[in-house]
Amino acid sequence: MKPIVVLTIFIAMAIRPALATDQALEVLHWWTSDGEQAAADVLKASLAEQGVAWTDYPVRGGGGDSAMAVLKARVIAGTPPGAAQIIGPNIEHWANLGFLQPLSDPVLNRTELFHPVVNELIRVDGARVAIPLSIHRINWLWLNPRVFQQLDLPLPTTWSQLIDLAPALREAGIVPLAHGNQPWQNATLFETLLLSVAGPTFYRRYFVEHDDAILNDPRVVETFRLLRELKSLMDPGIGNREWQEASRMVAEGEAAVQIMGDWVKGEFRAWGLKPGEDYLCLPVPGTTEQHLYSIDTFVVFRDHPNPEAVPAFIDTLLSPSVQRAFSEAKGTLPVRRDVSVADFDDCARAAHHVFVQAGDEGRLAPSMAHSMATSPESEDAVFEIVHRFFIDARVTPETATAQLAQTLRALK
Ligand code: BGC
Repeated sequence: MKPIVVLTIFIAMAIRPALATDQALEVLHWWTSDGEQAAADVLKASLAEQGVAWTDYPVRGGGGDSAMAVLKARVIAGTPPGAAQIIGPNIEHWANLGFLQPLSDPVLNRTELFHPVVNELIRVDGARVAIPLSIHRINWLWLNPRVFQQLDLPLPTTWSQLIDLAPALREAGIVPLAHGNQPWQNATLFETLLLSVAGPTFYRRYFVEHDDAILNDPRVVETFRLLRELKSLMDPGIGNREWQEASRMVAEGEAAVQIMGDWVKGEFRAWGLKPGEDYLCLPVPGTTEQHLYSIDTFVVFRDHPNPEAVPAFIDTLLSPSVQRAFSEAKGTLPVRRDVSVADFDDCARAAHHVFVQAGDEGRLAPSMAHSMATSPESEDAVFEIVHRFFIDARVTPETATAQLAQTLRALK
């Protein structure tokens, strides 16, 4: 090699920007199932391409409650991660406490790229403090089509149909409804049922506004009653079952149906299952036109050791090709409006259609159980009351309604 070439390479190496091995960003999140990890791998690979290593800090527990507890402990100890999955109004809470790094990336300022609910979530006092990633729809039934074909049973589109199918399913040794008895799973089911029973306007008045006029409404009593009825379709093994274990039961034909957000689809995909053949999605009865959403977002903490890694992190999360690959792996929708979902699967396209329509018509339902609707204190209180009702048959629907009304009123 000529000396001049060697010198050029040497100079280029000396002045190159710090790359991969020099930089790392620790990311705290609650994606620990197979599908969630496959989706996170898409982000890790893209970040690595930009010269930043993603240092993984996963905290087990669907819905993120444990992750939030661990995050608080780390911040109190003075060792926050570089970035964390924080979602919903909690972003504002952390920003107001002064922990979050305002983000100046121009893409975040392009409001036309995102849906209005997304712009609202990521902005606090005019500053962008979170990076949006994707939009989940929660009000889904996941079904094993073979179970229905083999027993010659119709796919349930109403609650009474699902309840009526239970004896035939049980007789064939199949659990009608797969579920895990964890407070966040019970709360996810409860909010889905409230949306089904009472519709999106009532849902918002109840979970977002805690409107005194409706807190004791008979529709809440009816929702608790339905929750109890659905519990009778579950198996005695609900114990502390994780959501993905319930999904596994549906995938293997051990159970017929699961009610859960579309992260289940990411799980099925990670297990090699095909939509339409190995599993089906149907909107939860009474919610075909509704979209109960959870939007995944990340924040960056102030004063972390590698501020140079932040632009690459934002770029990764918002790059159109990553948005597409991540969404397909995770079972979710890209948060960027300019990423087409035309060649996504039927469930994703249906979710997209409903999200846009419900958004235009002002009837989107923010998930309480997934921190989109209310303060963490109210969320904890709802979890506690719904969970107690779920595990203790002596608590009547009327009592649970009154307890919830009293609590939501106090926390308004
Ligand atoms: C998050 C999803 C996650 C799910 C289950 C939701 O709160 O938005 O990204 O897959 O919880 O852990």
